[in-house]
Amino acid sequence: MKVVAIVGSIRKESFNLKLAQHVQKRYADQFELEILSLRDLPMYDQDIELEAPQAVLDFKAKVKEADAVLWVTPEYNSSIPGVLGNAIDWLSRVDKVMNGKPSIIMGASMGVLGTVKAQMHLRDILFASGLNSPLLPMNEVYVGAAHEKFDAEGNLTDEATIKFLDVVIGNFQEWMKQYV
Ligand code: FNR
Repeated sequence: MKVVAIVGSIRKESFNLKLAQHVQKRYADQFELEILSLRDLPMYDQDIELEAPQAVLDFKAKVKEADAVLWVTPEYNSSIPGVLGNAIDWLSRVDKVMNGKPSIIMGASMGVLGTVKAQMHLRDILFASGLNSPLLPMNEVYVGAAHEKFDAEGNLTDEATIKFLDVVIGNFQEWMKQYV
């Protein structure tokens, strides 16, 4: 199984990037996870969507090739960050590469609610609106107080979170059997 991670933060020390890297490392023997950067994705522009820049084509091709998408996002202003919305806008148009492609969502924030509102919005965007991506039911991953759960090297050190992720990833792989 091949999965791509789309991380909603482009900062170097992003907790959400570190969370995606934890999944990449810990389950490396179970599935391949490629983390896609949103840093070089231009702003969506309907005028150029039919002749999109190479960075957009490359990004969409990676998503198209994947069996599933892992969305790992912070919460900005009670919703998803602009960079993530921008990526979704590109994915939702022309060849609609997300159509029917399964998704799983996670999020990390320094607050106690751990991206609840952002994930609510993301679920609605992915499932109910144009992307038509089936979502792993239940198994909601909210990593609150993220600054207390990673060490200085960026490793996830919170045992409860590590164990919970083992369960969620197990459920994800079981659920994915219907798609791969
Ligand atoms: C935030 N943050 C934040 N946190 C939260 O729980 N709810 C929110 O609505 C917001 N809004 C928000 C807006 C903006 C513009 C920034 C920069 C930050 C805090 C956010 O959760 C925190 O900075 C995370 O560490 C960002 O994720 P990464 O970059 O560490 O992955």
